[in-house]
Amino acid sequence: MLCQKDLLGIRDLEVSQIMSVIELAKDMKSIVVGSKDKLSILKNKSIVTLFYENSTRTRLAFTMAGMYLGANVTDLGVATSSVQKGETLADTGITLDRMGIDYMIIRHSMSGASHLLAKNVKASVINAGDGANEHPTQALLDLYTIYEKKGGFKDLKVTIVGDIAHSRVARSNIFGLVKLGAHVTLAGPGTLTAKTMEALGCEVTTDIKKAVRDADVVMGLRIQMERQKGGLFPNLREYSQLYGLDEEMFSYARPEAILMHPAPVNRGVELMPELLDSSVSVIDEQVTNGVAVRMALLTQLHEGRTKR
Ligand code: CP
Repeated sequence: MLCQKDLLGIRDLEVSQIMSVIELAKDMKSIVVGSKDKLSILKNKSIVTLFYENSTRTRLAFTMAGMYLGANVTDLGVATSSVQKGETLADTGITLDRMGIDYMIIRHSMSGASHLLAKNVKASVINAGDGANEHPTQALLDLYTIYEKKGGFKDLKVTIVGDIAHSRVARSNIFGLVKLGAHVTLAGPGTLTAKTMEALGCEVTTDIKKAVRDADVVMGLRIQMERQKGGLFPNLREYSQLYGLDEEMFSYARPEAILMHPAPVNRGVELMPELLDSSVSVIDEQVTNGVAVRMALLTQLHEGRTKR
């Protein structure tokens, strides 16, 4: 059970907390793909999404999750808000707090933004991605998807390929997967991976074939041009020739291996279309699971708030 005010990262979660969200997400998924019943767990509660960076999946999954739980869900609309007049993040948060908002879901380009907000508000804060630091709810839905497909984590080989250096998804997944007993291998060009990440308990290599060989799970990552200062690889065509995942490369993985990606995908860059659209891909299921996992998370934070 997540008996805490906020969810800011996977780094500080215990295995039992991660598993409790995964277990509850199973029940929530039956609503998302089946009955579509509206629950009253968050009746009379309010959720605001504050997205200082673009999003389709995360913002809408939280919106759907809140609606299924009976909450009132509003988007701040950062681009048309007083943020554009220079209002600070802390002042925005305090303003929302005074309106009685219960949950604030924040995405921001600055690492630590969700921590700053959480320190300044009474509401529960959920980190929906902060710079290159963490994207904990993406990792929770990824972990749930792996659990659903593989039945556990112990000794699974999970290979993450691509722009590791700029990836908050990779960092949150590494924290979770290593805690849960999986073997994590990171692969990409030397400029987008760092040997120092081995300190997090994973293997780092520039040899993609070695990384994919015998993997149970292969996770591609988006090349994040918006976070790169330039010059990290010659051009996208060369990147895709050397590090793009295609069916031939995927054939080195285990026969029952699954392909994951947090999306959005740069088709033809990090994933070739024939692999992306094949039966090994669980990317669409990750999207569905994202709603169920966020329902589970909001429910647990709510139960934690009522017990505190
Ligand atoms: N995976 C993910 O965070 O997608 P969005 O940017 O669309 O939210």
